[in-house]
Amino acid sequence: MTVTLRFQDSGEGIPLVLLHAFPLSARMWANQRAALSDTCRVITPDLRGFGASPAGDGEPSLEAMADDLYQLLDRLDLGSVVLGGLSMGGYVAMAFLRKYPHRVAALVLADTKAAADTPQIRENRHKLAHEVTETATINAVYDRVLPTLLGRSTRDHRPEVVSEVRDIVGDATPAGVAWAAQAMAARPDSRDVLAKANVPALVIVGDEDQIVTVADTEAMADALPKVTMARLMAAGHLSAMEDPRAFNAAVRDFVGSLI
Ligand code: MLT
Repeated sequence: MTVTLRFQDSGEGIPLVLLHAFPLSARMWANQRAALSDTCRVITPDLRGFGASPAGDGEPSLEAMADDLYQLLDRLDLGSVVLGGLSMGGYVAMAFLRKYPHRVAALVLADTKAAADTPQIRENRHKLAHEVTETATINAVYDRVLPTLLGRSTRDHRPEVVSEVRDIVGDATPAGVAWAAQAMAARPDSRDVLAKANVPALVIVGDEDQIVTVADTEAMADALPKVTMARLMAAGHLSAMEDPRAFNAAVRDFVGSLI
C-alpha cells in the first residue's frame, strides 16, 4: 500500500524533487529550499517512516518508496521532474527511474551509489533493524550510523551542522529506521537502469564521504550516458548540508542548463 507523503513545496518553474538520506528527513534540505527556490520549484518529501510521513507496511523495498513518490507527483499534477536524491534518496531515485522512467526529465545523484550492498553491509543493516526493533530505541543509529555521516572538516569546524544533523536524526523512529534499513538491503544493482537513462544527470560527491567511495561514484557516473560531475572538497556524506553553497551552485548550474 502506498503512503501519502508529507512534503514541502517552494518556488516556481521546473520541478526539482529532492529525496533525503537515511535516517534523516526533508529537514536536511532547508538550505536548498531557501537558495534554489528562486531558480526552480523545490519539492522535498519526507520518505515513508521519516519526518511527518507515516510508516509503511508490507515487505520493505525501495520500490514501495518509489510508488509513494509516483502518487505524490500525481497528486501535484506533475508530469516529469528533475529527480534528485542524496544517499538513500539516490537509491529511491534509481528505483523510481527503473519503474517510471517517463517521469524523470533529469537526475541529481549525490553521495550515492548504483551498486547493490555487499553481503557484509547487508548483514549490518539487518543487525541494525533487529537492534532498533528489539530495544525500541534508535541508540544503535547514534552509535554506528551518526559517526559516519559527516566529513572531518565539518566535524572539526562546523559544530552547528553537527548538532543540526544530530537533531534531525533524533526524530527518526525505530520502525522507520528498521523498515528503511531492510529496504536498502534488498535493493538490486541499478547500473543497468542508469545506462538506459537517456537524460542529463548531475553526480555530486563530498571528498570526505566515508560511506560512498570515489570508486562507487565513478562506477555510477560511468554508467550514465549524459553525466556532469561535481566534487565538493570539504564535505562528507551529507554534502548538501556540509557545503550547501557549492552543492547549490552545482545544482543551480545544472538546472539552468536544462531550460
Ligand atoms: C544514507 O545516508 O542514506 C545512508 O548512509 C545510505 C546507506 O547506508 O547506504
